[in-house]
Amino acid sequence: MIGEEVLKNITVLYVEDESLLQEGTTETLELFDINVICAQNGEDGLSTYRLMQDKIDLVLTDIKMPKLNGIDMIKSIREINKEIPVIITTAHQETNFLMKSIELNINAYVLKPIDIYKLKDTLIKAMESKVLKDKLRKKNQELELAIQEIEKKQKLMEVQSRFAAMGEMIAMIAHQWRQPLASIGTVSFNLKNKLLSGKYDLETKEGRFEQTEFFNKKLDDIEGYVQNLTNTIDDFRNFFKSDKIITKTKIENTIKNSIKMINKDFQTNDININFDFKSKSDVNIYENEMAHVFINILKNAQEKLLEKQSNREIKIITEDIEDSVKIEIKDNGGGIDKENMSLIFEPYFSTKKEKNGTGIGLYMSKVIVENNHKGKLLVSNTTEGACFTIVLNTLV
Ligand SMILES: Nc1ncnc2c1ncn2[C@@H]1O[C@H](COP(=O)(O)OP(=O)(O)OP(=O)(O)O)[C@@H](O)[C@H]1O
Ligand SMILES: [Mg+2]
Repeated sequence: MIGEEVLKNITVLYVEDESLLQEGTTETLELFDINVICAQNGEDGLSTYRLMQDKIDLVLTDIKMPKLNGIDMIKSIREINKEIPVIITTAHQETNFLMKSIELNINAYVLKPIDIYKLKDTLIKAMESKVLKDKLRKKNQELELAIQEIEKKQKLMEVQSRFAAMGEMIAMIAHQWRQPLASIGTVSFNLKNKLLSGKYDLETKEGRFEQTEFFNKKLDDIEGYVQNLTNTIDDFRNFFKSDKIITKTKIENTIKNSIKMINKDFQTNDININFDFKSKSDVNIYENEMAHVFINILKNAQEKLLEKQSNREIKIITEDIEDSVKIEIKDNGGGIDKENMSLIFEPYFSTKKEKNGTGIGLYMSKVIVENNHKGKLLVSNTTEGACFTIVLNTLV
């Protein structure tokens, strides 16, 4: 809103002790569709402002008035509202007064006798800046709200992703534990059987030695399996901790550690992983976060590969390119449908809804790589399947 329009329906508090002047000016202001509230002196002006501050858009005031002068009235009004536009009508041009009006951040002053066109222009200018300021303030508030909303969503997704990761972790631990638990079961069954069968000889030294050997060997086996169970828990605990520690490492170490988590699943499903680790550089990364990225991508590849019967392959290549390390993860699962290509990094986009896919795996991976590591996560299709490319800057 600019020009005369800005004066339509605004409310002006007009403080003036000369009633004839006040009447005349008020009549003219009303011709411009301005609502005018009149007060006869500073004290009256201040109390009217206090009562009607929500309605008043601008204060127009004389200086020399009985009871409370214009300057002191404005001082008090400014304590209530620092921003309200104020225009002074004055016959004075003394420096003292001008200094005070600068201090009080007066928008403008109009000399008496009032030239009504000049007053109108001054009112327009003062109101335009108020409207612009109000607009700006409103836009800022809207922006702040929008940012808060985005932050809230992001937090929610992080929580969701952690839950999903935890669920996955439990499934993976269960997978890794199945075999050692079964082995412990077998060993203890054998021990019990041996005892029940009574086929042992405790009479001779050799017999006792043989029994001790047998029991020792079995107990060692159990200890080995228990150690295996403990290691699995430790591996997972380290990787699913949320501590934000930067680690300087070769990316192949993180990849190998991530694969440890899902290896059992891959073996069971006959998925072959080939490595070609050519990168020699170190990268500074949040290792746990990057492990999530690799697990997300590898899990997606696995899910796609399970759609085919045989020849399930994943290839991981790392190489140094200038100041970066490039990691490519390729599968031969057929690739991503063209129409989904631009959507897969969107939060909640999933083609696995019926299998409870949340669709935040790749979104979180992108946030981790691009926001938290200032890298790049890209996707393309090869003739055989999908190819995810991660680029990490070695200088960061
Ligand atoms: N290697 C791949 N081959 C083919 N399509 C893929 C591949 N990786 C991802 N996609 C597609 O991208 C979509 C989004 O993946 P994303 O990991 O974000 O979610 P999701 O796997 O569906 O669910 P979840 O949150 O459980 O991971 C998938 O639903 C799938 O359609
Ligand atoms: Mg996924």
